[in-house]
Amino acid sequence: MSQEKWCSVDELSSYLSVRRETIYRWIKTRNLPAHKIGTVYKARLAEIDFWVENSSRTMLFEEEDEEFQRVVKSSRNFDNEIEIKSSVVVDRRREFEDIFSKFSEQIKYRDNKNLLLAGDSLKILKLFPTNSISLIVTDPPYHSTQKSNIMGDTQFKDDSEYLEWMKMYIKEWKRILKPNGSIYCFCSSAMEAKLEVAFEEEFNILASIIWTKPNAPGFDGWKQKMKKEALRQWYPHSERIIFAEPAFSGNLFKSYFGNLLQGWRKKANMTMKDLAEVIGAYGKVNHGGSVANWEAGRNIPSFEQYNQIVDALKATGNFEDMPSYYDVIRAFHTSGNSEFTDIWTFPNIRPYKGKHPAEKPIALLEHIITASSYEGDIVLDCFSGSGSTAVAALKNKRLAISIELDNQWIQRSMDVFKKISDSNYESFPDNYSMKSVQQFNDDKQLQLNLDQEYQHQL
Ligand SMILES: C[S@@+](CC[C@H](N)C(=O)[O-])C[C@H]1O[C@@H](n2cnc3c(N)ncnc32)[C@H](O)[C@@H]1O
Repeated sequence: MSQEKWCSVDELSSYLSVRRETIYRWIKTRNLPAHKIGTVYKARLAEIDFWVENSSRTMLFEEEDEEFQRVVKSSRNFDNEIEIKSSVVVDRRREFEDIFSKFSEQIKYRDNKNLLLAGDSLKILKLFPTNSISLIVTDPPYHSTQKSNIMGDTQFKDDSEYLEWMKMYIKEWKRILKPNGSIYCFCSSAMEAKLEVAFEEEFNILASIIWTKPNAPGFDGWKQKMKKEALRQWYPHSERIIFAEPAFSGNLFKSYFGNLLQGWRKKANMTMKDLAEVIGAYGKVNHGGSVANWEAGRNIPSFEQYNQIVDALKATGNFEDMPSYYDVIRAFHTSGNSEFTDIWTFPNIRPYKGKHPAEKPIALLEHIITASSYEGDIVLDCFSGSGSTAVAALKNKRLAISIELDNQWIQRSMDVFKKISDSNYESFPDNYSMKSVQQFNDDKQLQLNLDQEYQHQL
């Protein structure tokens, strides 16, 4: 069906796979964009798609109507269970070995899942193979905070010098990321807008996440010490995280996979309708079943749907080998049980002996890593500080690469990585932190430290 076509309520009901009564109710209660023409309602599919997409942002989980939740949920591929094939792990391991082989004296720690490199990450990144990393989670010096205890934070004379430096990273990040990879870059609210403009030269910005930190009573950072009456602007009680995917010529508003699919379909001499029909997805808008939506980059097929596409294309005789799901579809898994909006709440880390001044909470890093990578993927942090990103990645069955310039933090990361290297990374208990990992000797001790650490919160 053309997106411009006017449809009747009956057609809409089959398009959205809901009852006619539900369509009428949504017209009344949810502003479903139907127009009364004479005595009947008609709607344009393009407007309906937009409404479904938009509704998912604002109404998801506030809505008791089961049917509505089902349409909206499936439109955004929520609860999209991914079957992890062991071959993914094997391939990534080879890439991991390949990266490792480029370095010698920079290597400070290495096991078969974890690599720590010492030095200026801009220089080191230039040695990384192109398209070798699935996820970059990184936390550069913020510059606007001017903290003398963070290397690099005070080194730029003004914003433009800092931005020029960041642009060099942005170029390298785009080069080394896989086309279906993602990047999460921490920054301050003061620099976010300027950094986003710089990112947009190479990336599609997917979200500007606000990380807000409701801390325990008695520990609120500087906030409680502020003389409130002296404030001349709102107290900055959040940090920002830019979430982006690599952009490619012609796809500033499309996904990598959208462009790829369009090219494949044309090579197979199939219309969108043909392909949708062959894989049994025709007529289900935003169910992950509409080829038009996949090509427009508004949605992604499930693992099963992707394999159906591959089978349908191969059946035309125009294709032999096709890439695996994990190499073309950007990973994204979330659910209603975790932070699924662009405002995230994770408590900051209480000061402790050995804490990095900008240490990020493991729970937050785990949230990023599990949402935006597949098991077995390589996760890179090129301003790795305490090594927190690597620890969060290893706990979640990913491979980790860290790069750090400051000897103090290189040493700390080496100590931590050595201590945990004999253990089964995945067996770390939930609720662990860098503090507990730092003190780790064996499973028993980690558990003991955790118990002590969390006691004050009980
Ligand atoms: C904001 S902190 C990151 C803290 C980290 N996210 C954590 O949880 O511990 C930035 C880190 O980047 C490091 N750094 C600064 N310039 C660097 C460079 N050119 N190459 C590598 N690391 C650098 C600093 O020493 C600092 O540890």
